[in-house]
Amino acid sequence: MKFAFSEISIPKRGSLAVALYADKTFSPTAKLVDKKTKGALSRALETSRFTGKKGDFLEIVAPNGLEVSRVVLFGLGETGKLSMTDMETLGGSLVKRLNASGARSVTVILDELNVEDFKTNEAAAAVAGGAMLGSYRFRKYKTDFDEAAEPTLTRMTVSCKGSATARKAFADIEALNEGVFMTRDLVSEPANELYPESFAARCLELSDMGVHVEILDEAKMQRLGMGALLGVGQGSRRDSRLVVMQWNGATARKAGRKPLAFVGKGVCFDTGGISLKPGPGMEEMKWDMGGAGTVTGLMKALAGRKAKVNAVGVIGLVENMPDGNAQRPGDIVKSMSGQTIEILNTDAEGRLVLADALWYTQDRFKPEFMIDLATLTGAIIITLGHENAGLFSNNDELSEQLFAAGKAVGEGVWRLPMSDAYAKQTKSPIADLQNIGTGGRGAGSIVAAEFLQKFVNDTPWAHLDIAGMAWSKADKPITPKGGTGYGVRLLDKFIRDNYEGK
Ligand code: BES
Ligand code: MN
Ligand code: ZN
Repeated sequence: MKFAFSEISIPKRGSLAVALYADKTFSPTAKLVDKKTKGALSRALETSRFTGKKGDFLEIVAPNGLEVSRVVLFGLGETGKLSMTDMETLGGSLVKRLNASGARSVTVILDELNVEDFKTNEAAAAVAGGAMLGSYRFRKYKTDFDEAAEPTLTRMTVSCKGSATARKAFADIEALNEGVFMTRDLVSEPANELYPESFAARCLELSDMGVHVEILDEAKMQRLGMGALLGVGQGSRRDSRLVVMQWNGATARKAGRKPLAFVGKGVCFDTGGISLKPGPGMEEMKWDMGGAGTVTGLMKALAGRKAKVNAVGVIGLVENMPDGNAQRPGDIVKSMSGQTIEILNTDAEGRLVLADALWYTQDRFKPEFMIDLATLTGAIIITLGHENAGLFSNNDELSEQLFAAGKAVGEGVWRLPMSDAYAKQTKSPIADLQNIGTGGRGAGSIVAAEFLQKFVNDTPWAHLDIAGMAWSKADKPITPKGGTGYGVRLLDKFIRDNYEGK
């Protein structure tokens, strides 16, 4: 889809979308359109349930008095209550409706909203941004297109006062969304196509944008002592990889500061290993690399919009398979940190991958903080469903910043407790640690987080368990079903608000 911005004027072609506010109040442009069509909007309103509340739509096809092919009324409700995410949702919902109707182009007119929290031209950029997110499709493997069901909408123009500012704001949003799309693409790929080596090759493509990419192979990881990560991958025909991506965009004044670090779980397929998972639903474990996908998409977004920060992304890429050479329950491995781990369940593999990736990251980069993302536990879905990611941290400030950023972009996080009582559960009688807790199924997500904390040293750290967020079975306005790209917008906002410009 192509996006454009213009000053407010009624177009001569395509579809026209204009706003209604609460209680059937016309926006200035809607009023003008009603006049030009000799009351067509008023008459349409009388015969429908549309009241102008947020999320309402009403279509009027081929109205007399205008040259456009269709007028879409969209409800904004009480404008004082609007948020930027509402504007994105509007964009995404419009795309969906217009595709259903067969429209090819649309002009969305946003009259001055007079909202305190944001300017109307920022809202215009958000409408386009949401439309872009909502129009994403993963269809590279589809050859049997049903032409009648294909999206028709190819062009959206958003009209507002001060449209040059909207156009400028959209350039950054577009770069961010390209990052989200990369994450969605990676998450949706099947595991026969996306395995550690091919994933690493995708990362390498970011070099063109100025990201410095290094790929560590198994021999290199062996020399570094990454026995925990390598143990997970040893049952797979595919070699494991660790990818390090660096974006150095900080201004000269800040260039010497510690980098921000993001670490991702990249289990390209999780069968559970010898502790094999049940068959039904196992195909979902192709997206067990969601954390790594988010870190990679974030690096793309930062580079795309030339963010003024130094950031490093580290992802541990493995495939967890049962095989003659696979790790066994009871095996003891040595992590790069020196701590030994008794593997009691080969399906608790994500934490083993992160153990070495986290230790390596703090050891090499001495970052300002580390944030890891992982589809780590099924238990977090029991706790939070698909509405929030679990947040675990040793740092209150970091937690608050992440919470605020999540709220602002509609990618929620909810903090769960950590304490020594949980940490104790990770002690093994014959090694330093064991990879599952002694408490059975109780507090599974917290115990997993405690395990990770053993590998962060003194670094300020936050862990996001995104098992409930990386994939969506439901179509939503700005997140079509499939890989969601969760976390890219959250972390971009978090970086923007707290680490750029300072
Ligand atoms: N990748 C899974 C967690 C998961 C489950 C993600 C469902 C998304 C949807 C993880 O590796 C795993 O298997 N965790 C186990 C841990 C247990 C063995 C302690 C789990 O959650 O059951
Ligand atoms: Mn597992
Ligand atoms: Zn897993």
